[in-house]
Amino acid sequence: MASGGLFFSKGERGGFAENLPFMCKVVVIGAGGHGKVVADVILSAGMELLGFLDDGRSPGDLVLGYPVLGGLNDIGQYADQGCRFIIAIGSNSTRRAIASAHKVRYCTAIHPSAVIGAGVTIGEGTVVMAGAVVNPDASVGRHCILNTSCVVEHDNRLADYVHICPKAALAGTVTVGEATQIGIGSSVSNNISICAECLLGAGTVAVRDITVPGVYVGAPARLLRSRS
Ligand SMILES: CC(C)(COP(=O)(O)OP(=O)(O)OC[C@H]1O[C@@H](n2cnc3c(N)ncnc32)[C@H](O)[C@@H]1OP(=O)(O)O)[C@@H](O)C(=O)NCCC(=O)NCCS
Repeated sequence: MASGGLFFSKGERGGFAENLPFMCKVVVIGAGGHGKVVADVILSAGMELLGFLDDGRSPGDLVLGYPVLGGLNDIGQYADQGCRFIIAIGSNSTRRAIASAHKVRYCTAIHPSAVIGAGVTIGEGTVVMAGAVVNPDASVGRHCILNTSCVVEHDNRLADYVHICPKAALAGTVTVGEATQIGIGSSVSNNISICAECLLGAGTVAVRDITVPGVYVGAPARLLRSRS
């Protein structure tokens, strides 16, 4: 497990994060709608939020009462102060680009109402939203989003930069490849493998393996377009 990630030896309620050093503050990268939800998770988990970095906002703007501190160019000064970071940008490829370009200490945050099973591992930079359930022996990569009330069943394997959207459900022993998004309200049957770089649209039902990167919709899932 990379530093900043979490391993759960027994089942847990959320509401905590990795054991951050005393008084360590968290900076959220991205001050949009998703950034707000991530900030709410951080506060609910009892972590200290310093503010946001966002190239599209003016320093001093307030989001949930916390300041926009600057843009991505300012990340170094907050890293030097010992802050930890979470990238709160919905685009999987953008999260990946930022994490690749900025090798700082990322942290993991889990909402108090999330349920995490025994034997689960969660990678650094991943955020688990309210009501999400991650069942035993699932493994979740780095910089993933487990969004509101999603279900990640036992023995799932989620690669880095995956986004499981609100109310999406993955049955047991599902594999999801890097940077794939499982859209809102989608379902994936047990033992199915979804390859990297896919987007399953809202309400998609996957009952067969998906091996070609692309956008899929419908029940059962059909290819809308290959990834260009
Ligand atoms: C799949 C998706 C990306 C397609 O978006 P798009 O490329 O802009 O596609 P369009 O809206 O032009 O639709 C193209 C066709 O696919 C159909 N379609 C689009 N999304 C669909 C879906 N979720 N289920 C079934 N059909 C869908 C459209 O009806 C349209 O069909 P038509 O050509 O017969 O009229 C988008 O609709 C979607 O579902 N996004 C995911 C939303 C989500 O999960 N948000 C949560 C964020 S936390």
